[in-house]
Amino acid sequence: MIETTQIGDRFREQYGSVPDLISRSPGRINIIGEHTDYNEGFVLPTAIDKSVYVALGKRDDQQIHLYAEDFGEFFRTDLAQVAPTDKGWPNYILGVVNQLKERGLLLSGFNLYIDGDIPVGAGLSSSAAVECATGFGLNQLFNLGLSRIDLAKIGQLAEHTYAGVKCGIMDQFASVLSKPDHVIRLDCRDLSYQYVPLQLHDYELVLLNTNVKHALASSAYNDRRQACEQAVEWIQSQHPAVKSLRDVSIELLDQWVQPKDESVYRKARFVVEENVRLDRACTALAAGDLSELGQLLYRTHMGLSQHYQVSCPELDFLVDQVRSFPEVLGARMMGGGFGGCTINIVKKGFGTKLVEEIAPRYQAQFGLALTPIFVKTGGGTEIVN
Ligand code: GLA
Repeated sequence: MIETTQIGDRFREQYGSVPDLISRSPGRINIIGEHTDYNEGFVLPTAIDKSVYVALGKRDDQQIHLYAEDFGEFFRTDLAQVAPTDKGWPNYILGVVNQLKERGLLLSGFNLYIDGDIPVGAGLSSSAAVECATGFGLNQLFNLGLSRIDLAKIGQLAEHTYAGVKCGIMDQFASVLSKPDHVIRLDCRDLSYQYVPLQLHDYELVLLNTNVKHALASSAYNDRRQACEQAVEWIQSQHPAVKSLRDVSIELLDQWVQPKDESVYRKARFVVEENVRLDRACTALAAGDLSELGQLLYRTHMGLSQHYQVSCPELDFLVDQVRSFPEVLGARMMGGGFGGCTINIVKKGFGTKLVEEIAPRYQAQFGLALTPIFVKTGGGTEIVN
């Protein structure tokens, strides 16, 4: 956690005045339901206790001044000139400003300072947290009257248009709407949702960070999305009522997709099966059957790795390594893939020992450090000052 007084002080050092407000938006984990969100399926995410903080102050002109603590640098533009930049980090903020402008919402110039403690590139959705902290803060600063769900959608569109990733709604939704000790069972078709208690009894969630983020992750992500849309299109030509993989059965895939393209078939089949696994995971959670939940995680990993093909050697290695420990009930890669973290259900107190055992093996295999993240769940976006 970062102290809000520190954020306020740093804002003042950069801009010479106190901020009007500070908003906070968290990163997320996802228990199960991966690559289902953009297929109108189900996801089971929640926020973690690591966040992005955005301090904002109104200006008297139309200028937008941004300062990112992580990069130690400014980016300055004008409200009328907002456009994507090669610089990278400003895009997640400017993309949101652009969405607000497109909705005809009245903004004027502002100073923004941003800092956070979500590890970047770890698959914990630091970019969604930036978008949501920015949107939430600007909504408050300029009295825009947007709902949390509006802000999640704005964050998602910012990612599509300014970061070039055609992501689903899961990350932004989890960031704005999570509650501590609960996961959100979100139906990505109509955005209806329930809070499900996350009771892990003698177990806890440990993330193992591969510390890699392979290049081309975003283009591969967009390719997967396209493969799913291709499968839908082929089925739709025979069954016009089918709108997404949500409406599709394995039989339909067998009949209309498999003969056309085996690789598209395997990807679409993964998505259909993943929705079923999520249902089972909710039943297991409610019954306190954590062994079953763990097994479902392992099966999801297998599907993501072999069929959906979004894993990488580092993630596969980590999931493989933990299998031999009876204290670990299940593990899988989490998020978009090609790096980031695995999520593991581990006997309370065993996490440190687990890391001591496998970190040297990981180091020997890949020449990389393995960093554990012991996560607590947390609440959604808020104004903290
Ligand atoms: C990324 C995207 C999400 C979701 C996951 C995979 O985190 O931003 O929308 O698709 O990958 O489940």
